[in-house]
Parts: sequence; C-alpha cells; structure tokens
Amino acid sequence: MLYVLAKYPLLKDVIDRCNQVVVDTLQQNTIQEANIALESFNNGGKRLRPMLLILSSMVPGHRSFEEIDSSLIELAGAVELVHLATLFHDDVIDEVEDRRTKVSARVKYGNYASILTGDFALAEALELVQRNKHSETMPEFIRTLRVLVRGESLETAHKFDYDLSKAQYYDIISEKSASLFALSCKVGGMTRGFQYSDTLGHFGWSLGMAFQMIDDLDDMLSTPNHSNDCDLENGYICLPLIHLLDRLKDGYRESLVDIINRADFSRQNERFIVSLCLEHDAINQTRGEIHKHLLRARESLERFDPSEARGLLEQVVDALDVYSQNQVENFNSFAQTAS
Ligand code: FPP
Ligand code: MG
Repeated sequence: MLYVLAKYPLLKDVIDRCNQVVVDTLQQNTIQEANIALESFNNGGKRLRPMLLILSSMVPGHRSFEEIDSSLIELAGAVELVHLATLFHDDVIDEVEDRRTKVSARVKYGNYASILTGDFALAEALELVQRNKHSETMPEFIRTLRVLVRGESLETAHKFDYDLSKAQYYDIISEKSASLFALSCKVGGMTRGFQYSDTLGHFGWSLGMAFQMIDDLDDMLSTPNHSNDCDLENGYICLPLIHLLDRLKDGYRESLVDIINRADFSRQNERFIVSLCLEHDAINQTRGEIHKHLLRARESLERFDPSEARGLLEQVVDALDVYSQNQVENFNSFAQTAS
C-alpha cells in the first residue's frame, strides 16, 4: 500500500536502523517468546508507525535525516514493538490464520504462546521508552495502551451488533487503531517540543482513521479486494454495512443479517452484499469519509513549513487516497464480473 516510502533511500536507511534496534532488543533474550517475536517481525510489515514517528520529528524546523539520533530510532522501535504486541493478541481474538503472508504465530505455536509473545513484545517496548532520553513520552505510551485495550474491547462488545452507529464505529477505530498512529506522530513531535505535539498527533489520528477505514474496506469481504480476510465472518460491522443496514427495506435487511449470522459468504452472497452496497452508494460514502480524514491530515501538515519530511508525509496521505480510490474500482469490477 505504501511503497512510496520504501523507495526513498534515506528513509530506508533510518528504517533499517530501527529494524536493527528491534532485532537487537529481542535477541538479548533467550526465551521462546523472543524467537517467536523475531520470526514474526522478520516476516514483513510496512513499518509505517516508526516512519511516521521519524518523519514527524523532522517536520518542525526542517530537520534532516542526518540529525536522526539513536534515541529517536529507539522510540521508533518501541512503537513498532507495541504494534507487534497488539497483532499477537489480535490474532488470537480474531482467530487469524495468516499474518504478514505467513501462517500466524497462534496457528504455528498456539494461542497461549501468541499471547505471551505479545506481552513480551510490550515489555520490551516499554523498556526502550523508559531508558530513552525522551522518557517524558512514557505517559503518552501508557495512555495509548489503555486506549488500545478499550478500543479492542469495544469492538468485541459490538460484534454482530446490527444497530451499531457511525459514531460508535468511529469510537472503535479511533481507539483500537488511530490512537497508535496519533501516538507515533505525537511522540515524534514531542521530541522537538510540546508546542508541536498536538498538531502532529492530530495528523496521525486523521491518517490512522483513514488507514483503518481502508483496512476495513479491504477485509469486509474476502473477494472484492483480494484480501482473503472476511471481517464479517467475525461479526465486525464496518462503515458500508452501517450505511446499508440503515437504509435497507423490503426484507433485504433481514436477508443481509441472515447471511452474516450464518457466516455464509459464498461468492454469490458476497456478490449480493456488494451489489446492495453499490446500489445504496455505501462504498462511495465510505470512500468520501476516508477522503475527508485524509484532507484533515493534510490540513494538519500545512501548519508546518514545506520540507522534505512534510513532503514525504504528504506522499503517504496521497498514496492512501489513491489506494482507496482503487478499492472503489475493485468493488465496481467485482460486481460487474459474471458469477
Ligand atoms: C488489528 O486490527 C488490531 C488492532 C489495530 C488493535 C489490537 C489491539 C489489542 C489486541 C488490544 C491492545 C493490546 C496490547 C498488547 C496493548 P484488525 O483486526 O482490524 O486488523 P488486521 O486486518 O490486521 O487483522
Ligand atoms: Mg481485530
């Protein structure tokens, strides 16, 4: 989704340094959980949150890549470890089979190992923060961990909730996902002074909201966006569905609810759901919400002078916008292809 950044050599160097910090941190331990964490870390991942932290720290006062010191790299490693920890737990909660194109740790080593590995990754993340030159960021980390747990818990509480409102959906994705994007950018900003942290935190939050709406659109059904994940099987209701459930009449709502309750996502039923979404403009409406959040992200960035880092962050915003436009096209072409 974000190859834009991977192609930028100076950023790649910084991310290589951050990867090394995570690898060294994990390798200092001999327990089985360290090996599992390392295996999953090496299986891929976009490293988006560490990139956001680093770039956010560069935006105020046009800092250059040469000025990125080890304390920033370690904070970037810490946000990636928090992210990794949440995935080990999330895979158990969602009963996920694959993660990062490989079989998930919970399938390979069991749920118990996956949970403990998540706990371990979290402990390592907090240690990196605690011994950091910018340990004043610790309260932000702790606050965000609490918010992440609350978001995940809220999501679970609303599984198969066909009356879920848009506001409730926004609360869920804000807490379980956008909060970590906000933390990454805010912490980057905090290392330059508290006067920058709120604007950068808000940038991260808007970007994170858009990111999670995009992820939810990819995973709503398995075929239209070729994700092979189907969040509806778990009863997770996302924005197009909220829009749809609000508008369907004449037994269509009952048919939709019945498909979800029976988890009967045959290709024909996926096609039925997609055609309802298109007929009621649910995909375009979601695309509009994504675009709106990306515009807000851009507005936050525009409060800073143009710079190399600001330009790269704008490229992230644009890449997500293009990606979400492609998602709409994928839904349209899925609906048009013959069964
Ligand atoms: C992935 O979302 C999961 C999250 C964004 C948050 C998970 C948070 C927790 C498990 C609680 C907090 C945990 C810790 C360790 C503090 P998704 O299921 O929509 O995405 P996917 O497509 O990647 O599975
Ligand atoms: Mg989940």
